[in-house]
Amino acid sequence: MTSTPLPERASWKALQEHHAEIGDRHLRELFAEDPARGERMHAEAAGLYLDYSKNRVTGETLRLLTDLARESGLEEWRDRMFRGERINTSEGRSVLHVALRMPKGSSLVVEGVDVVAQVHEVLDKMAAFAERVRSGEWTGHTGKPIRNVVNIGIGGSDLGPVMAYEALRHYSRRDLTFRYVSNVDSTDIAEAVRDLAADETLFIVSSKTFTTAETLANARSARDWLVGELGAEEAVARHFVAVSTNAERVAEFGIDTANMFGFWDWVGGRYSMDSAIGLSTMVAIGPENFRELLAGFHDMDEHFRTAPLGENLPVLMGLLAVWYVNFFGVQSIAVLPYEQYLKRFPAYLQQLTMESNGKRVTRDGAVVGHDTGPVYWGEPGTNGQHSFYQLIHQGTRLIPADLIGFGKALNPVRDHHDLLMANVFAQAQALAFGKTEEEVRAEGTAPEVVPHRVMPGNRPTNVLLAEELTPRLLGALVALYEHSVFTQGVVWGVDSFDQWGVELGKVLAGQIAPELTADAEPELAHDSSTNTLIRRYRALKNA
Ligand code: F6P
Repeated sequence: MTSTPLPERASWKALQEHHAEIGDRHLRELFAEDPARGERMHAEAAGLYLDYSKNRVTGETLRLLTDLARESGLEEWRDRMFRGERINTSEGRSVLHVALRMPKGSSLVVEGVDVVAQVHEVLDKMAAFAERVRSGEWTGHTGKPIRNVVNIGIGGSDLGPVMAYEALRHYSRRDLTFRYVSNVDSTDIAEAVRDLAADETLFIVSSKTFTTAETLANARSARDWLVGELGAEEAVARHFVAVSTNAERVAEFGIDTANMFGFWDWVGGRYSMDSAIGLSTMVAIGPENFRELLAGFHDMDEHFRTAPLGENLPVLMGLLAVWYVNFFGVQSIAVLPYEQYLKRFPAYLQQLTMESNGKRVTRDGAVVGHDTGPVYWGEPGTNGQHSFYQLIHQGTRLIPADLIGFGKALNPVRDHHDLLMANVFAQAQALAFGKTEEEVRAEGTAPEVVPHRVMPGNRPTNVLLAEELTPRLLGALVALYEHSVFTQGVVWGVDSFDQWGVELGKVLAGQIAPELTADAEPELAHDSSTNTLIRRYRALKNA
């Protein structure tokens, strides 16, 4: 395994030279020279077909990029992750989300413990609970069955569950209502509960640490609301369960630890939607579908673990991102699902990608001499086409995009699905090939309008196609991005599993909060801007 700084690696230097040669080449030329590249440049695994032919690469680029992955130790780091070694070095932790989806009966012994056995113990407990709620056997304080489930959590304890609920809504129990409360803004909890009957509502407080300020504030307010509505403190026991690694704090909050679903410090928050953090997902879609979701994750894990680098979907996608970020200066990547049910997928990916690879030092603590994680963003198509695609087509920034589409609609209506998919193929085509000045002129366009109508093209895309959005497919899709982020992190040499950058803001908010609530004018010792803003806020709130 190498610790050679990235710019000194032989494969990096070779890529720099290669970029000088082909960086300016147009996709029109690349397709003209190699007309069959669209038939050849694809990879397939776990139900996902990736067409990467509309990237600014040649066969040589891919060979050099896989050399880079090899020279960066990708295979060794990957194997270390799968063995449960403590590759999250700054926190001294293993990174074992892959164990969350290993099949029942398999085994992974890490530091003397069979973690797969632990995982299935919790999954079975979750399944029993989910069935009790779904069947109406679990009743609330007044004896009524549960009709509403409210997950309270933030970051990885919210984004995965809400994304998965939206993505798999088609498979969910429509007679149950699911809500997700994350923001400490009181509007979030107030709007979530305003039309719910407290005696039919179950709160799942999801927090790995059970110390997160926003989640505890929301959980306390939910408890106040419930006790206020039902007039009985003891109602809490039937209406609150917890998902956490911290039994002590759960008990302190007043939730019976018999109703706590555990997980482990080797599951990062943003990698936890397939742990007990997915309890709300399981209640929504049922244990069988949840197991299918896990099977899809595992399909992709196995592909990532065993497929040669050049045919490995997550490796290819990770390396393509590295190619654009480090050699073309790309700052952001768009993820554009042409599937309404995936509307929260870009938001989910933002935490996965940016909390993982938004790092400025390597594992050894040296400041990197190269760019790391790009900004990920996106919206479902075709909506985005009528808002921000203009900038992707004709703006001055290069924004590679992932377009995700399906062969079958889950709600077929007339010809909507063909229309939707026509847009996937049309956008990828327009982005790649554009429209030349000659073509625009040949259409009889007024000369002064010609420059406005020229479409430069040469905008790269990945197109991901699958048959249908099923629980299994969703698992594979999420794992694809997880391992693509891993691939990038290994090349950049960063710890993709810590998130120290979010700490300072949390500490400062903890210091400032009492200054906002104090009755008497507080002594302020911040910078002059912060002091002035705090004084102005206090004046506004008391006006
Ligand atoms: O914002 C930092 C973070 O630790 C995320 O990584 C995590 O997903 C989120 O907070 C929530 O943490 P917890 O599940 O411990 O409440």
